[in-house]
Amino acid sequence: MRLAGLLAGTGGPLKRAMVDVVPTTTARACANIALVKYWGKRDARLNLPAAGSLSLTLEALVTTTQVAFDAGLAADELVLDGRAAAPAELARVSAFLDLVRAAAGIATRARVASRNQFPTASGLASSASGYAALAVAATGAAGVALSPRALSVLARRGSGSAARSVFGGFVRMHAGRDGDSDGAFAEPIASPLTERARIAIAVVGGGVAKAHGSRDAMDHTAATSPLYRAWLELVPRDLAAAEAALAAGDLEQLGAIAEGNALAMHASAIAARPAVVYWQPATLAALAEVRALRAAGRAAWATIDAGPHVKVLTSAADAQPVAAALRGVAGVTDVSISAAGGPAAIVTDREGSHRAS
Ligand code: PMV
Repeated sequence: MRLAGLLAGTGGPLKRAMVDVVPTTTARACANIALVKYWGKRDARLNLPAAGSLSLTLEALVTTTQVAFDAGLAADELVLDGRAAAPAELARVSAFLDLVRAAAGIATRARVASRNQFPTASGLASSASGYAALAVAATGAAGVALSPRALSVLARRGSGSAARSVFGGFVRMHAGRDGDSDGAFAEPIASPLTERARIAIAVVGGGVAKAHGSRDAMDHTAATSPLYRAWLELVPRDLAAAEAALAAGDLEQLGAIAEGNALAMHASAIAARPAVVYWQPATLAALAEVRALRAAGRAAWATIDAGPHVKVLTSAADAQPVAAALRGVAGVTDVSISAAGGPAAIVTDREGSHRAS
């Protein structure tokens, strides 16, 4: 729109330039931390989770993604944090773009550039914010209008946790039933805790790449762990209790469920054969510090994903002292604090109009 306006009344080369300009759509999404974890699928092709999950979207961890469908491209292109992506990453993004192309009825290839604005050397997973931002940017660029719920179903095909990053604040992911893809969607949960909750992110080991990707590790746990059945029985109970805690504004209850749920997830992975162990000595030291903080009356409950880092659910009032204590743990290399983040959104649409920052 803006460009067309600028070029109005001009002819020749400028007019040609206008035709050559490929509309680009930019979107942003925040990462999220699961308080009741997603760990295991019931259908790998549709990426359907074996159980529901519950998370908090984090404003400090943002991915910004640009997508342009360009008839001049022979293949999709992907640049991640300024570098051409590895073939496996490109193949996964290309398969995701195929879903968007099918919905739009186009075959055009796309240029994708994605950037993570995460705390320094955070070593934190970016697939949640990455695929949520890609779902919003790619559908926007292709002119496919989807409801937030349908966007969450689409984002799930890229990464299970990405469905939750479509929404801000506390988010519930529904497992759905059988092979019904549309039943496995995310939705936000309003809670008095959204304003009050903080997550202190303690990076362990300087943010080195994790040894086992979550995808393979959850499949391996489901296939071999004698504790996996118990995990699946636990999740619905933890979800119901976490939702009750959110409705009541009970941070202590929510924290106790989150810490217990994360340890149960890791117990199932540790019992897999061979074992999947994400923890390092500093992970255990941080867990001990969290228990000590609680004993001293602070709001602090730990959760851990598919890596050694410890994320601590706390309150706005206790976030600084909790972060300071975590900084004192040997082997913790960085600590940052995040409040609840907002939903995934278009930053600049394909007409060039600015929508959000
Ligand atoms: O979305 P994925 O496939 O990267 O799996 C996420 C798995 C965990 O981060 C460990 C748990 C979760 O619910 O986010």
